[in-house]
Amino acid sequence: MPAKIIDGKAIAEEMRAELATQIEELKQQGVTPGLAVLLVGEDPASQVYVRMKGKACEKLGMRSETITLPADATEAEVLEVVERLNSDRDIHGYLVQLPLPDQINEKRVLFSIKPEKDVDGFHPVNIGKVQIGDPTGFRPATPYGVQQMLVRSGVEICGAHVVIVGRSNIVGRPAAALLLHKGEGGNATVTVCHSRTKDLPGMTRQADILIAAIGSPEFVKGDWVKPGAAVIDVGVNRVDDASAKKGYRLVGDVDFEAAREVASAISPVPGGVGPMTITMLLYNTVQAARQWVG
Ligand code: GUN
Repeated sequence: MPAKIIDGKAIAEEMRAELATQIEELKQQGVTPGLAVLLVGEDPASQVYVRMKGKACEKLGMRSETITLPADATEAEVLEVVERLNSDRDIHGYLVQLPLPDQINEKRVLFSIKPEKDVDGFHPVNIGKVQIGDPTGFRPATPYGVQQMLVRSGVEICGAHVVIVGRSNIVGRPAAALLLHKGEGGNATVTVCHSRTKDLPGMTRQADILIAAIGSPEFVKGDWVKPGAAVIDVGVNRVDDASAKKGYRLVGDVDFEAAREVASAISPVPGGVGPMTITMLLYNTVQAARQWVG
């Protein structure tokens, strides 16, 4: 029997409805949650992401601000905006869209964001809090979304063997920390694999929950999946497709058609992790506003 589909779009909508209630409650207390995004330069992919974040905010009745600086902006100019956002009482959370142009030291900028407003969870204080399971730290949106997809689709995480393929700072490593936490959505046994792992298929076949975040199209084959496993595909890769209107289509890091014949549940691409990421960013911003209120 083919796997059940873990529908990220539906779960994201369910969470946005919950957020709408929390936003209404905040508004009744005179606070509109506000998210700002700083974009430096004109990278088309970043412009699309930033526009999507702004639109999602407005749709939920949140305040949204986008600040753009030219590609040749200096580090001082970026830090000036960061300082302004750190003290702006209408902005409860913000992020600096990455990557930044070469002349700007990314680490210096991320370290300057006030941790209480760092809804991306990229400041070392929040990274540390996530590592030690301190619930006051902002959890980065993508792995937090992955965890919510598992929890909300009824996949048993407690005691499960989770194998993560990919050790990036924004997905693999924080995903491992979140699933290892004590408490709901945690208590897994976690293995993190990467490009140097020996016998990768042998490792992934041990997974009750397999998370693919390696950034390579259809890298994980159907016979790498243990029968009955749950599979979350974090990858978003463009592959040429002359029959598609745009000349390409999106595929994940997992060979979906093959894996769905083996797994018990699987998230698709598109319509899986993607819709969850912005939702979790909005979620973090609303939590920032709630903390600010009281
Ligand atoms: N660039 C690509 N993804 C992200 C993200 O999640 N946050 C930021 N700040 N930049 C990104």
